[in-house]
Amino acid sequence: MRANISSSMHVSSSSAVDIRSDDTCHIRLTLAGTNVDKYPAKQHARKVATKLGVTAGLIYLVGQAAINWEDSDQPPPFRQRRYFYYLSGINEPDCYLTYDIQADLLTLYVPDFDLHLAIWMGPTLTVDEAQNQTDVDRVRYFAALQHDIECWASKYNASYPIYILHDDQKPVSPSSRLQLNDEKLLPAMNAARTIKGEYEIRMIRQANYISGLAHRKVLESIHRMSTEAEIESSFLATCVSHNAKNQAYPIIAGSGENAAVLHYVKNNEPLDGRQLVCLDAGAEWKCYASDVTRTIPLWTDWPSDRAKNIYQIVEDMQEECIGRIRKGVRFRDLHLLAHDIAIKGLQRLNIFTDDNLSKIYESGASAVFFPHGLGHHVGLEVHDVSERPITALGGRQACWSSPSFGPLIDDGSWSAPLLEEGMIVTIEPGIYFNRLALLNARKQPAAKYINFEEAEKYIPIGGVRIEDDILVTAEGYENLTTAPKGEEMLEIIRRGIDNS
Ligand code: GLY
Ligand code: MN
Ligand code: MN
Repeated sequence: MRANISSSMHVSSSSAVDIRSDDTCHIRLTLAGTNVDKYPAKQHARKVATKLGVTAGLIYLVGQAAINWEDSDQPPPFRQRRYFYYLSGINEPDCYLTYDIQADLLTLYVPDFDLHLAIWMGPTLTVDEAQNQTDVDRVRYFAALQHDIECWASKYNASYPIYILHDDQKPVSPSSRLQLNDEKLLPAMNAARTIKGEYEIRMIRQANYISGLAHRKVLESIHRMSTEAEIESSFLATCVSHNAKNQAYPIIAGSGENAAVLHYVKNNEPLDGRQLVCLDAGAEWKCYASDVTRTIPLWTDWPSDRAKNIYQIVEDMQEECIGRIRKGVRFRDLHLLAHDIAIKGLQRLNIFTDDNLSKIYESGASAVFFPHGLGHHVGLEVHDVSERPITALGGRQACWSSPSFGPLIDDGSWSAPLLEEGMIVTIEPGIYFNRLALLNARKQPAAKYINFEEAEKYIPIGGVRIEDDILVTAEGYENLTTAPKGEEMLEIIRRGIDNS
């Protein structure tokens, strides 16, 4: 017996249950009049208004337009503007949105019907279809937009501004000069997006679930793969077959020395002779990201003591930091704790001298091996926006995309933000032996703490990163990432070989 329960629910009539003669029971449940799966755009709009700190004004947002590549009749893959999606839940081109703060009225504008487009590409979103996807108050066609804005402006714009994100995303009004504000909306939306709601958590959980399946599938069949490209294509195939067509970021499948290149995306080298592969890959689900890294041995077990030892240090860094997550904790302190564990571990391996730990710590030498931040927010962007950067280090930000070199001094800036319930952050420590980074480090003052002869023996390992997405809860945390790691990961690799 198989039961299919559709996600849009109407328990309306006896026809909702359909028992077929082939012994298959199909149940279609519909909860009429509820917002079960609608995007919570209204809740987001109110949250943004609260963060703006005003009781009147008009928020105006422009969705991503349909465009073609330069000098081409072909479009790039469509990507909705994330600020627009946050207030609309609509992943279609050429849409607009207004939120009248005083009237608490959220209006979405969808493209006018275009016969030519409908014949070639399929019809664009109708008002009814949009209304089923999102809980905005009303959906209108684009044709009504200018008139609606003019009406609002003639009544209120002398007293209250139209809030826009950027100067090039302003409404056009031939009949009046509009009073605009392009400074307050962006920070207000960043602040609102920092804390995830129940719906958003569900989407990020689902993105993680699919990423988990895809990582698992790679582990099961890694013994049959001979190139980085096969790893990438296996990961993609699992995601797409689960309807996750988009990746949250380009897949990183770096084997050997490539594992030490943080944004390695060529994924075009053979695995032969390599010890580890660092697979940083996360599916996107309904515009929400997951961000997952696993470092996988390319042998039945750890290919060398060196590889195993580095994995264990990074595992320790991750477990210690995840275990401390709770609201009120300064994320920056976890970042510094991870460095502390890395230094002690690398001292045990004779990669750092046995100088006093705090001297090494203050020299910044550990950033040669762990050059990126411990983590970042995850949401509509993989490196999601926030009110303030979570790993701010004395005016510098240690995030994934801007490596934090220099001394790791806790400058006593207690203003660094604290974790709050509803935040989703990655914990992604790493230790890398990048040939160029080591060469460059030889010229730095911190060089005196590094045993380069020993460190260079680890270059063939490349690096290890382990990355999970963690939800801060009322009681502590929940790890949303389901991809196997550690001993469970090794077991799956072994089973894959045994079953082949
Ligand atoms: N995938 C990029 C990152 O881990 O931040
Ligand atoms: Mn990340
Ligand atoms: Mn990642």
